[in-house]
Amino acid sequence: MNLKIYENYESLSHGAANQIIEVVRQKPCAVLCLAAGDTPRLAYTLMVNMAKTEGIDFANCTFIGLDEWLGISPVNEGSCHHFLRRHIFEPLSISNDKIHLFDALTEDPQGECRKMDKTIIENKGIDLMLVGIGMNGHIGFNEPAGSFQAYSHVVELDETSRTVGQKYFREQTTLTSGITLGLGHMLEARQVILVANGSKKADIIRRTIEEDVTPLLPASLIRNHVDAYVILDKEAGSLLTPR
Ligand code: F6R
Repeated sequence: MNLKIYENYESLSHGAANQIIEVVRQKPCAVLCLAAGDTPRLAYTLMVNMAKTEGIDFANCTFIGLDEWLGISPVNEGSCHHFLRRHIFEPLSISNDKIHLFDALTEDPQGECRKMDKTIIENKGIDLMLVGIGMNGHIGFNEPAGSFQAYSHVVELDETSRTVGQKYFREQTTLTSGITLGLGHMLEARQVILVANGSKKADIIRRTIEEDVTPLLPASLIRNHVDAYVILDKEAGSLLTPR
């Protein structure tokens, strides 16, 4: 696992954006799985700007959704769907046939999971997965005490995710379950980047990197990945033992 600690959120975001661009430069038909959330937002803005100024074409990339709040409409501003459209797909003019997101309004969530797993196999796996980390150490919606081997599945959200998740919604919203890629997908992705910023993430980052690799802390599994990068700002890295 490679650890990079940047001076601040801006430089961290530049670093993450550069790394995504590099993957697409080397493989214009890359399969990308990019998390929603506050942490990567600036990286995506910078990535879109770089793509435009440097002529990097994302049109042949395939986009795989990482997760979604079950029961939340894609037009709801708090949905991952809405976030990805606004920050990535619309500014890069990605065509719908290149976008595979979970349908959170489906009446058959298990079928939706099987469909996503099949899509990933048909596209020959994920080249780059960029993830954030939840305050409880979740990756996507792989909550503590889930399985390291799981593929797409439906999860009961834990209390932390339900509470913290309110920050994405304008109004108080009932968040009970999610649909997510599994940690098996993360392990099989060719490259994984985990981004975290701010002092509020410092303790969970310390535990992720310095304590045991355990399903109780899903993000810790990144340490078993052969090509993983943990990209932090100084605040998120502030509790790590100096090397
Ligand atoms: C979102 C996702 C979540 C977030 C995590 C951190 O698609 O998969 O796991 O990455 O909750 O969210 P932020 O970046 O808002 O702190």
